Amino acid sequence: DDWSSRVTLVVNGVEHDLSLDNRTTLLDAVRDRLGLTGSKKGCDHGQCGSCTVLLDGRRVKSCLILAVTLDGRPVVTVEGLAGPDGLAPIQAAFITHDAFQCGYCTPGQLCSAQGMLDEVARDWPSAVTADLTAPAELTDPEIRERMSGNLCRCAAYPNIVAAVREAAAR
Ligand code: FES
Ligand code: FES
Repeated sequence: DDWSSRVTLVVNGVEHDLSLDNRTTLLDAVRDRLGLTGSKKGCDHGQCGSCTVLLDGRRVKSCLILAVTLDGRPVVTVEGLAGPDGLAPIQAAFITHDAFQCGYCTPGQLCSAQGMLDEVARDWPSAVTADLTAPAELTDPEIRERMSGNLCRCAAYPNIVAAVREAAAR
């Protein structure tokens, strides 16, 4: 009908031909239509980061994007972070550093951290740092600034920063 469109969503390397209501967010599409419930709905308003996924290799808040606009563009959710050899380094580091308590924010933290590390690898050292006088290195304040879009109600921040620091060192 007039309110829906056909779209090919490419999620974690798999194509899905769907008919979606035009108002469906990417978050609702992956959770409710594809059964990928790792991405979490915290606020549904772009404020908490628990829905973070990678789109075209960059982190985005999937609650703020309409799925029908993404025809053919690659999306990676937390379910797609691990590779054939097992967990991604950022996932392993979260376990090593006990970087979660309830775990609700964790899928978003993982996708955001992966996207952030990719940004750093891509943009560094031309990237703008939080402290312009600081040397171009991924300091803890820099990690906190770059991860500031992802809230954790359990306040596991010190361990999240430690995990990101370790993954960055690898
Ligand atoms: Fe998307 Fe909170 S659910 S930012
Ligand atoms: Fe509970 Fe982050 S681990 S919200």
